[in-house]
Amino acid sequence: MTASSRPKSNILLYLIATVAAALATFLFLKFFGNHAAEHPFQGWWRIPWLVLLSALAYVSIRVLNALLFDFAFRLRRGYEAPTLVRNIFTLVAFTLFFLLIFNKIYVEVNLGALFTTSAIFGVIIGLALQDTLGNFFAGISLHADRPFQVGDVIALGPQRITGVVEGITWRAIKLRTFANNVALVSNSVAAKEAIEVFPRDNLNARLVYFGTLYTDSPAKTIHIVREAIREAENVSTKITPVVRIRNFGDSAIEWEAKYWPQDYAKYNDTDALVRQLIWYALRRADINFAFPTRTLHLERKPSVQALTGRQKEVIERLSAVDIFAPLSIEETEKLAGAAVRHVFAPGELVIRAGDQGSSMFVVHNGRVQVQVSDGGTARAVAELGEGAFFGEMALFTGEPRAANVVALEETEVMEIGHAAMKHLFETNPDLAESISWTIAERRAGLQASSQQIPLAAEAESAGLLNSIKRFFGLG
Ligand code: CMP
Repeated sequence: MTASSRPKSNILLYLIATVAAALATFLFLKFFGNHAAEHPFQGWWRIPWLVLLSALAYVSIRVLNALLFDFAFRLRRGYEAPTLVRNIFTLVAFTLFFLLIFNKIYVEVNLGALFTTSAIFGVIIGLALQDTLGNFFAGISLHADRPFQVGDVIALGPQRITGVVEGITWRAIKLRTFANNVALVSNSVAAKEAIEVFPRDNLNARLVYFGTLYTDSPAKTIHIVREAIREAENVSTKITPVVRIRNFGDSAIEWEAKYWPQDYAKYNDTDALVRQLIWYALRRADINFAFPTRTLHLERKPSVQALTGRQKEVIERLSAVDIFAPLSIEETEKLAGAAVRHVFAPGELVIRAGDQGSSMFVVHNGRVQVQVSDGGTARAVAELGEGAFFGEMALFTGEPRAANVVALEETEVMEIGHAAMKHLFETNPDLAESISWTIAERRAGLQASSQQIPLAAEAESAGLLNSIKRFFGLG
């Protein structure tokens, strides 16, 4: 039976019952009416009258209940009326009708006095129904407060009983747990406990945890995991998942991934799917999950014959840099041995304008941006990618750093210090000249961006060459 056909058939049933009760009353009046015409409510006749009229009142109230709550309430509010409210309506209306009928039939009985004078009656009822009434009133207050609705997920109390709300009755809140069991929490208990509500029409966040090795790049992990989570079914596209480091653990970088499920009631399945997708994505990207490990560092004497893969990479990178092209293989290897590798996160400052600097950098992986400050805001002057170098101006002239250099993405650079360059200048006199040309060009770029009139490149380069030679103490 569908939800919409149920109210109609209920009303039909109650209508038929009402008609039957009215018919019974009518027939009763017809057959026994002669006797009771003058005094209808007398003697033993009063009992069938009471039964008949009460039944008629009851079925009429049910019809009214169905009309009010199945149609009027649903139309106005858009959701089904809570069972508890419906039951209260039926109970109060029926009690009133019953008292009215009783009063009409048993005129001599003073109901008011019966209730007001019967203190013992009240105490007995109160004691017997203590728990029931407690639940009843707690249920009413829950309805009045409306902290949650049918269909919301709630977590109740210190035991965190969690499930989808299926209904609130006289006695209890009915929850469908994620094991597909039904949990009943009595209203009075629920009213005392803290309730965490995850409303059905709200985007409630979920957190999934994982750990990676310290050697794996955080920027890469964030990108890979975020994209993997986006692919998962039931993950909302309205908010981008957030992946962030929550702790540096003993043997892992500990991560939390935050995402927003479309249907929170399915979070168990979605959490599992998200974990699975993270596993595959990390595997493809060659990022390793961490588990308790112990790392042994064995120190080996470096031998020129046995170069490691990383050293070879550095040598290749340096020999592709144009200013180092004139160097011999041995000199490039020496330079690579003196170079120190650093990794910068996206947005990190590699060089700050105005600082003193005694080293230059070659971009190994990634990209940097050269920026000058223009009235407080950063203006980009140039972008340098793999194989480009920067920081040479301060290194070769001894002047403060001329610009900010910022990593645009995760960037690995090789830092070459003053001592390594001095040695190269002594054996390669041409090197200073080619560097002075680069510096002159870059200075022209800086001046153009700050709208100063640049010096002629040749004049500038010649002056620079002399100051480089002086600074490095070359003849
Ligand atoms: P240095 O002055 O040591 O520090 C900032 C660096 O930015 C600078 O060296 C150059 O390497 C680099 N730089 C400055 N201007 C430019 C430019 N116009 N083009 C490329 N790089 C530049």
